[in-house]
Amino acid sequence: MISVLLLLWCVTYGNSHNDFPSLVTKNATMAVIIDKSLFATKDEYRNVTGMMHDLIADIVRKEMQIGGIVVHIFRDTNVNLRQDPDCPRIPDMDGMSVPLIVPGNELSQIFLDLRMMNILTWNMINILHDDTFGNKSDSIVIAIIVTQILLSNSVCISDRDTISRVMKAISNRLPNRLPNKQLNIISRSIFTLKHDTTKGERRNSVKKVLDDFHVEQLGHCFLVIATIDMVADVMSVARSLKMVRPDSQWLYVITDGAMQNRTNMTAYVDLLAEGGNVAFMYNVTNSSDYCKVELMCYVQELIQALAKALEYSLKNEINLFKRFEEENFQMIRLTKHERRTELLKNVRILLSSQNTLASKGICGRRLSWKFSSSITWGNFFSHDKNVAHLLDIGTWTPGFGVNLTDMIFPHIAHGFRGINLPIASYHNPPWQIISVSKTGQKMYGGLVFDAINYLSLKLNFSYAVITPEVTRSLNSWNTSRFAKLGEKINEMTMSATRKVPKEVIDLVRERKVLLAACAVTVNEQEKSTVNFTVPIFVQTYSFLTSRPRQLSRALLFASPFTEETWACLAASIIIMGPFLYLVHKYSPYSIKTSGLNSSWQCVWYVYGALLQQGGMYLPQCDSARLLIGIWWLIVMVLVATYSGSLVAFLTFPRIDTILTVDDLIARKDRITWGFPNGSFFETYLQNAEEPKYHILLSRARRHNDTEDEKLLECIKEGKHALIDWRSSLRFLMRKDLLLTGGCHFSLSTDEFLDEPIAMIIPHDSPYLPVINAE
Ligand SMILES: *[C@@H]1O[C@H](CO)[C@@H](O)[C@H](O)[C@H]1NC(C)=O
Ligand SMILES: *[C@@H]1O[C@H](CO)[C@@H](O)[C@H](O)[C@H]1NC(C)=O
Ligand SMILES: *[C@@H]1O[C@H](CO)[C@@H](O)[C@H](O)[C@H]1NC(C)=O
Ligand SMILES: *[C@@H]1O[C@H](CO)[C@@H](O)[C@H](O)[C@H]1NC(C)=O
Ligand SMILES: *[C@@H]1O[C@H](CO)[C@@H](O)[C@H](O)[C@H]1NC(C)=O
Ligand SMILES: *[C@@H]1O[C@H](CO)[C@@H](O)[C@H](O)[C@H]1NC(C)=O
Ligand SMILES: *[C@@H]1O[C@H](CO)[C@@H](O)[C@H](O)[C@H]1NC(C)=O
Ligand SMILES: *[C@@H]1O[C@H](CO)[C@@H](O)[C@H](O)[C@H]1NC(C)=O
Ligand SMILES: *[C@@H]1O[C@H](CO)[C@@H](O)[C@H](O)[C@H]1NC(C)=O
Ligand SMILES: *[C@@H]1O[C@H](CO)[C@@H](O)[C@H](O)[C@H]1NC(C)=O
Ligand SMILES: *[C@@H]1O[C@H](CO)[C@@H](O)[C@H](O)[C@H]1NC(C)=O
Ligand SMILES: *[C@@H]1O[C@H](CO)[C@@H](O)[C@H](O)[C@H]1NC(C)=O
Repeated sequence: MISVLLLLWCVTYGNSHNDFPSLVTKNATMAVIIDKSLFATKDEYRNVTGMMHDLIADIVRKEMQIGGIVVHIFRDTNVNLRQDPDCPRIPDMDGMSVPLIVPGNELSQIFLDLRMMNILTWNMINILHDDTFGNKSDSIVIAIIVTQILLSNSVCISDRDTISRVMKAISNRLPNRLPNKQLNIISRSIFTLKHDTTKGERRNSVKKVLDDFHVEQLGHCFLVIATIDMVADVMSVARSLKMVRPDSQWLYVITDGAMQNRTNMTAYVDLLAEGGNVAFMYNVTNSSDYCKVELMCYVQELIQALAKALEYSLKNEINLFKRFEEENFQMIRLTKHERRTELLKNVRILLSSQNTLASKGICGRRLSWKFSSSITWGNFFSHDKNVAHLLDIGTWTPGFGVNLTDMIFPHIAHGFRGINLPIASYHNPPWQIISVSKTGQKMYGGLVFDAINYLSLKLNFSYAVITPEVTRSLNSWNTSRFAKLGEKINEMTMSATRKVPKEVIDLVRERKVLLAACAVTVNEQEKSTVNFTVPIFVQTYSFLTSRPRQLSRALLFASPFTEETWACLAASIIIMGPFLYLVHKYSPYSIKTSGLNSSWQCVWYVYGALLQQGGMYLPQCDSARLLIGIWWLIVMVLVATYSGSLVAFLTFPRIDTILTVDDLIARKDRITWGFPNGSFFETYLQNAEEPKYHILLSRARRHNDTEDEKLLECIKEGKHALIDWRSSLRFLMRKDLLLTGGCHFSLSTDEFLDEPIAMIIPHDSPYLPVINAE
């Protein structure tokens, strides 16, 4: 790799305000630096430098009527701009680079330019190329660099084949010379497509490559470099495999368009898929009037433009000088930075006018590539122009690099590009609220439309709502009814998401709308006709019972012990009495003590001991005394336990709370329960494993919409429990509070089952992934 550097600067003169000298007082100086290693022999090098000096001086003399440029050629500098084969361009405001490219080798430079301008911001890239494009070739790139009014021409040579150079341009770390550019390192995967002779074979080989493609690991960005026929095959195969989607990007580079005289891309429109992101890059170089690229030719053209631009600046400055005094002139003349900007602007204008006027062009027509991007999103729904179309978005030329007027993938950047899309909806508060304003305009609100508005903002579309004539809900569709809050509350039945009007489903199924903006419970039977978006809401179920009551205190004294404890206690007294009698009677030292003369008396004695009353007489013998002593100990423990518990029971009133499903089932004899007819809950219970849910289902009633009032009375009286969405039950409670001013209900703490609620979208809609992502 060899570099030639042309350098131009102006010697600084001491000046108070602007230490960059005026063109009036000092001629511009140009430094020309030529990298020695560009040339094979020293003689050749000397010859070229000599010629360069003469050429520049000659052009300057011809082009500039006033002023001039002092040219210095630096022969013995050790300049070595050793870089990559392709030359990153100087930033636009600093200078201008012209890579000198042998035709056929421009591709890598184009990709480098695209990367440098942050036009291709891919992190992962899949490259598919056909085997016509692997030949080794040389490439020469000249970059003419202007920094601080500094022009540099660098020539980069490499001898690798085209594909590997393109790869390098795409994925290599860029040279350190441009440290302020933040560019990602790209990971890439390369696939070769076999260029078989017949159409059928070609298609099959493309299909084989794309069929077992791991999109998840390799990403959705594809770069296809192929001939014009191959591109058509890849496009149709990719479309049939559904790889052209809103979240994938395909850039096709057509390599032989110019040679085949087929630069009209209109033929590809039919191969575009709805919702895909496809762009083309193709060679529009006119081969008939293309002439050989010569270093001197480029130098001549650039110096011409520079000389003219400099002359123009000088004339301006002279005019300025004439009109103002010396002092003022120093104040208002251009600074170094402004001069650079002005010169660059004029050089560009001059060069592009030279290029467009073929007669004036010195190096003949240049290489030229065009970019086309496709407009494919939302074409399903636009009736006037219901086909995709292509936009010419810009060109690439060696001198100016990439010049784009639009995004290369307009839908990735701008979503639907602000078009108007139809959506279907119906009135179903609070999910979708359709109301009519005073001026007769329909207004759309509710939770679902909040989501739709967000989508329309993020995906850049506006929407027109189609409201089919839904018989059921149109009656209640009256603004005056919504005027007062109380009435509005009566309107709302939360869980009406199971039944969607057939008219809405039909609109979605026939793909007349982007989606249906309505809340629908995700269910299996509708999955056969439409697809659901990801759930936008999740509803959990709970049950509603009457407010808990305090239990009666009538039998409170018995509650410290369970029934079993009481029974054991009674049994132990009955057993203890006769046992004491027997021990007492058959004891060898037994003296007849009155009060212990029969089993019956002993039972009373034991009972008396339990009540801590003691007996009149104690048995005489040790064995019986021991027995009674043990009993007394037992009594002590029992009494202490009982009285302690009793205090606790007296302190805290006992409340009949039903908080869990188990509580509910435990009271199954006292209380009934039910849920709205056709509820998602029923399906869930039918499929549940746990036995308690089977009990719940077998004893449940199904409510109809009509019996709301009766039902609420039942619940208030504590005879019934209503199972429904938690939000909907909360809503009932609030409504009751507003209407009656009292709290009559309690909500269970148990939350069972999540019911997903989503919007519906046509089968195979390409936009499902992007909508879900948002
Ligand atoms: C210098 O280049 C010119 C034009 O290409 C050629 O005619 C001449 O012989 C060369 N001289 C040397 C010393 O190479
Ligand atoms: C600039 O160069 C021109 C032509 O070489 C010469 O006539 C003129 O005197 C120079 N001007 C200055 C200020 O050196
Ligand atoms: C572009 O077209 C020109 C003229 O037909 C041709 O010379 C050049 O090799 C083509 N570029 C590529 C990369 O094929
Ligand atoms: C590649 O180069 C070889 C020899 O250099 C040539 O025979 C072949 O036709 C070339 N292939 C293409 C597609 O240009
Ligand atoms: C393309 O057009 C040029 C002249 O315009 C002609 O010479 C050439 O044969 C054409 N190539 C094809 C493949 O038609
Ligand atoms: C491209 O071809 C189509 C027909 O295939 C034609 O209508 C259109 O005008 C052509 N465009 C250009 C720029 O030649
Ligand atoms: C290519 O250039 C020739 C000669 O300048 C011209 O006649 C022809 O129309 C050009 N072709 C295209 C497609 O521009
Ligand atoms: C870029 O393209 C636009 C529109 O085609 C054109 O006006 C502008 O001059 C071009 N810029 C350059 C630097 O060529
Ligand atoms: C929406 O699309 C229009 C048309 O392409 C575009 O001008 C606008 O910037 C886009 N808005 C957003 C937020 O992307
Ligand atoms: C709307 O309600 C008002 C008053 O309740 C009634 O007069 C009007 O006829 C209703 N309109 C419709 C379309 O039901
Ligand atoms: C859409 O529904 C069909 C049929 O139920 C299903 O096969 C397909 O996977 C669904 N698509 C998505 C993206 O879920
Ligand atoms: C609910 O309505 C259906 C028919 O609409 C009826 O068969 C059923 O008996 C009703 N249930 C109750 C509890 O009224």
